[in-house]
Amino acid sequence: MAREKWASKLGFMLAAMGSAVGLGNIWRFSYVAGESGGGAFLLLYLVFVLLIGIPLLLSEVSIGRKAQSDVVGAYKEIAPGTPWYLTGFFGVISSFLILSFYGVVAGWSIYYFWNYVNGQLFTSPAGGYGAAFEGFIGHAWHPIGWHAFFMILTILIVYNGVKKGIEAANKVFMPTLAVLLVALAIYSLTLEGAAEGLAFLFQPDWSALSKPSIYLAALGQAFFSLSLGMGAMLTYGSYLSKENKLPSATVGIGLMDTFFAIVSGIMIFPAVFAFGIQPSSGPPLAFITLPSIFEQMPLGGFVGIVFFFSLALASLSSSVSILEVPVAYFMRVFKWSRHFTSVITGMVMFVLGLAVSLGMGVWSGITPIGDNNILDSMDYIASNILLPLGGLSMALFVGWYLTKDQALEASDMTRLPLGPVWLTIVKYVAPVMIILIFLNALGFIG
Ligand code: PHE
Repeated sequence: MAREKWASKLGFMLAAMGSAVGLGNIWRFSYVAGESGGGAFLLLYLVFVLLIGIPLLLSEVSIGRKAQSDVVGAYKEIAPGTPWYLTGFFGVISSFLILSFYGVVAGWSIYYFWNYVNGQLFTSPAGGYGAAFEGFIGHAWHPIGWHAFFMILTILIVYNGVKKGIEAANKVFMPTLAVLLVALAIYSLTLEGAAEGLAFLFQPDWSALSKPSIYLAALGQAFFSLSLGMGAMLTYGSYLSKENKLPSATVGIGLMDTFFAIVSGIMIFPAVFAFGIQPSSGPPLAFITLPSIFEQMPLGGFVGIVFFFSLALASLSSSVSILEVPVAYFMRVFKWSRHFTSVITGMVMFVLGLAVSLGMGVWSGITPIGDNNILDSMDYIASNILLPLGGLSMALFVGWYLTKDQALEASDMTRLPLGPVWLTIVKYVAPVMIILIFLNALGFIG
């Protein structure tokens, strides 16, 4: 059977942007920024996106398109008989870790959507939005139903294949979310206390830079948000043909993703200060802040419906890219059908996610890393360790395994003046920075 392909370059762009833009930009970005001190974090995040993220995004997509194969197969194709394919295994492991918690949080968004549809969240419940949220996520089986629902949707899209499923679904989600986020950010700016929120987000507290953990947090966020280092972009790139030019596409994806993060910061932080919410509230932050905004604004209930609907859709376009990584791999090695593979893989991820969901309540005493619950621990391992390691390996592969000419050709950079600059970044700058950030976090430097 011929390998599947995108119907058009636009289809690829939308799917890749759909992968990048999701809970990472709104839910994860806001709480990590809030925990890591705001402005200084944002600055590091932007530097990492521009200097490491976007160049590596180009490398990752190039590997996929060149090899026309999945994360593991790509390395076996280009570098047969070498251990580079282990990078692909890391990617497959990350995909299981990430989707198991991503599905849980996306389930929460669908639950919120539903509660706006039926009016439950139009006004603050007794005890406030925070307590209501904690009560919901801590419930033994209630969130699991929504998690299951979300995973079924994800499986259905991947089940239907690249073109009909993923590509078609993305065309509607992204524009709606963009319009809504900008409108909400503008509204948020009119709230009393907005200035304090903006200062938190845009005025770096330089002393925060002395903390090694914020560098790793910003790096992990850049990778997570760009869907980088796991093979999602590699896999999507493998459905592209040679005619589609990559440099402009990857820059577009990177900038779009960053735009969504900054706009959601402008939406969330003014409200955080206006409503007296702790910026360091952790994963619940967006789920407490947003309903407080909607409660205040005219037609807020309606905005809540549309917002959580788009958030759920944006999450779906990301989760399908996560599921597609192991599905493409298993389909090739086991010769299973797409239908069978997507159902089985998605079900395993759902089962892993049960631990994450229970970890918010019944199993909250289980703290695999430090005092982090199951969700935070899985997220930490995947986003702050596995994704940057995957990205490091991809950079080394393109920078050092491929010849200069091969690397430039694979990325359509041969005739571009920025070609050598890009290659220098991929070969030296990005790997050195990633290694320094790791060493720094481990306490070897400083
Ligand atoms: N980038 C996605 C988001 O921001 C999450 C994701 C991570 C998708 C890793 C694919 C790979 O929501």
